[in-house]
Amino acid sequence: MNRRPRVFSGMQPTGGLHIGNYLGALKSWVELQDDYDCIYCVVDYHAITIEHDPRDLQARIELVARGYLAAGVDPERSALFVQSAVPEHTELAWVFSSLTPIGLLGRMTQFKDKSKDHEDNVNAGLLTYPILQAADIAIYKSEAVPVGEDQQQHLEFARDVVRKFNLRYGGLFPEPRTILSSAPKVLGLDGERKMSKSLGNDIGLEESADEVWRKLAPAKTDPARVRRTDPGDPEKCNLYRYHRCFSSEQTLQWAAAGCRSAGIGCLDCKRKLHQHMEEQLAPLRERLLDLQAHPDRVREILAAGAARLRPIAQQTMAEVRDRLGIPRWPTT
Ligand code: TRP
Repeated sequence: MNRRPRVFSGMQPTGGLHIGNYLGALKSWVELQDDYDCIYCVVDYHAITIEHDPRDLQARIELVARGYLAAGVDPERSALFVQSAVPEHTELAWVFSSLTPIGLLGRMTQFKDKSKDHEDNVNAGLLTYPILQAADIAIYKSEAVPVGEDQQQHLEFARDVVRKFNLRYGGLFPEPRTILSSAPKVLGLDGERKMSKSLGNDIGLEESADEVWRKLAPAKTDPARVRRTDPGDPEKCNLYRYHRCFSSEQTLQWAAAGCRSAGIGCLDCKRKLHQHMEEQLAPLRERLLDLQAHPDRVREILAAGAARLRPIAQQTMAEVRDRLGIPRWPTT
């Protein structure tokens, strides 16, 4: 038996992955595989809380799954699957919903934000979203969850609900701890908002070297550098944050000093950044394209992941039903 602590994390199939997803999540997911028994999920049932086009959901699921694999999630070591393939997630969510005060849900930041962004569709799923997330984690008795800062409140909620279950029905679930991403926050190319495909300020993992360059070249830097001869402050430059994620220490020093003294122009600095980005992103992009050419391989990996996880989820759910006093019905 594998006795390593269990990690669970997931992303919504909202579209193509970008370097923000890579730096903020996928990179650490890949590293965690060395020390944890990892489960990585594409959470499709979460995605329907916002209006979506049923015709392209499967494609978006597979797109995200390819991103996990290309980044280095290893299906030999970790389970990679789609949430809806293991129905016990939603079953446990129902149980958890009966332990959750409505008021708590209404106070969730993400709910408030999404209600504002989708005023005409403030549905109950949007409200109970964190309950399903808690069930995702608890159904495998997961002990740790790598997420970004924006998900801390949902993790706090997950700990609350399993604590309540344990108290009322007897200890069954570990309280999942947060593994906070240590990656420096990367903003979108506008330097103002979180990187997001829908905002159009992203660099997609599948974009070619040329496409990336066409986005970097006009991107905002320190506004003080109007002319080539104006000195700047790297700490005020959005792209210097990208350098921090991709470039060597030596390049960082070169960029910072050159910026402060106006010894280099922003374009020189961007060229260097592009070069370092390519070193990390080119192999990833190649794997993405290869997986895209072999969709059956990805589907098999997802099916195998679900097949491996289903018995675990079924076992947990049987324990939950026992605790609740729900009878065992004979299966015919
Ligand atoms: N809510 C998470 C997000 O938007 C996605 C998610 C769903 C998740 N279930 C999860 C993350 C369980 C970690 C664990 O990023």
